[in-house]
Amino acid sequence: MEAAVATEAVDVRWDGVLVNARLVTLTGDAGYGVIEDGALGWRDGMLAFAGPRATLPAAPDALADEVVDAQGDWVTPGLIDCHTHVVFGGDRAGEFEQRLQGASYEEIARAGGGIVSTVRATREADEDELFAQSLPRARALRDDGVTTLEIKSGYGLDLENERKMLRVARRIGGELGITIRTTFLGAHALPPEYAGRADDYIAAVCAWLPTLHAEGLVDAVDAFCERIGFTAAQTQRVFETARALGLPVKLHADQLSDGGGAALVAGFGGLSADHVEYTSEAGVAAMKRAGSVAVLLPGAFHVLRETTLPPLDAFRSHGVPMAVATDCNPGTSPLQSLRLAMSLACTHFRLTPEEALRGATVHAAQALGMPDRGRLVAGQRADFVRWRIGQPAQLAYWLGGDLVSAVHAGGRAVATDL
Ligand code: NIG
Ligand code: FE
Repeated sequence: MEAAVATEAVDVRWDGVLVNARLVTLTGDAGYGVIEDGALGWRDGMLAFAGPRATLPAAPDALADEVVDAQGDWVTPGLIDCHTHVVFGGDRAGEFEQRLQGASYEEIARAGGGIVSTVRATREADEDELFAQSLPRARALRDDGVTTLEIKSGYGLDLENERKMLRVARRIGGELGITIRTTFLGAHALPPEYAGRADDYIAAVCAWLPTLHAEGLVDAVDAFCERIGFTAAQTQRVFETARALGLPVKLHADQLSDGGGAALVAGFGGLSADHVEYTSEAGVAAMKRAGSVAVLLPGAFHVLRETTLPPLDAFRSHGVPMAVATDCNPGTSPLQSLRLAMSLACTHFRLTPEEALRGATVHAAQALGMPDRGRLVAGQRADFVRWRIGQPAQLAYWLGGDLVSAVHAGGRAVATDL
């Protein structure tokens, strides 16, 4: 009998076990899926076990050398920030002041500021400088619970500088021990050297994409379809190039006006339509048919003092999953905490704290096409966060604050504050 137990323990030997945790598993379609007195076990970066401690197959120290006592902390899946622009040079605090004095985001963009001013600062920085400037922002996101981070290009706007941005994004993942998904956003704004030649610029973007993809730098493709961005026809050309390469697409859609962006990206089976403040009900229906996620970006809504809400009731009634992301960028959303984005989603968009958490985990994973993460269940990535909170709603309730005990990515503790 003793020999049999020992053999079983050896067979299931894991890399680590966490006990004495209150798990927020998010299994099922609703509810937090709480397991009191829960345990996690992981091996090779994946969860081998997530359940009540009492159902562990053996004593924790028979299962793994590393046994972590969570000391009653709440434990959620690692947060997933599915829409960011954290790699950029400089800042736009001056533009923030201009807007406070009455200038609009569109006016500043049309006067040669906005995205194009960040393009100048990003081009000026060499790869090491860009990395040094961008890393603290990504680290702040990680230290507040993010274990998977999407990062877009889009401030280089030529082959060399778009490549530089994407390489910096990959390097950040290695440095911080978290997963990075890169998105090519060449069609973000028209660089000055292409003034009056937007179609020629789009042709250049379509020519760069296969090169960057061949270098392993592109996981998905995005565009800014807007009056101050690119037309639907231009966006379509970029998406057709992506499709030919087998790359998934997503879109900055209907942020400042209803340009039919949500329906456009849904027509390409897109992963997500993002912003979506002005999306029509027909756009929502198209997203539902395509399985596209609505990525809500309340940081940009807040900073631009927008008043038109995304069609939240339509998303709910059509069953379109809603993700929440920071959109961390120097212009519209200098936001370095995904928890704060969750809070803003509750306050501005009336999401429940549970919807906001699903939006930053399960639904964000869907928006990145990564079904291996976002819940605490055996078979998923061992990405999880220990929080010093009294109940899960506090994740969206506190505006800032230091709530993290530890962030684990692939089982490994990549940030601790114990
Ligand atoms: O998601 N809308 C376009 N892109 C960004 C803004 C980028 C910027 O202003 O630098 C956004 O809001
Ligand atoms: Fe954005």
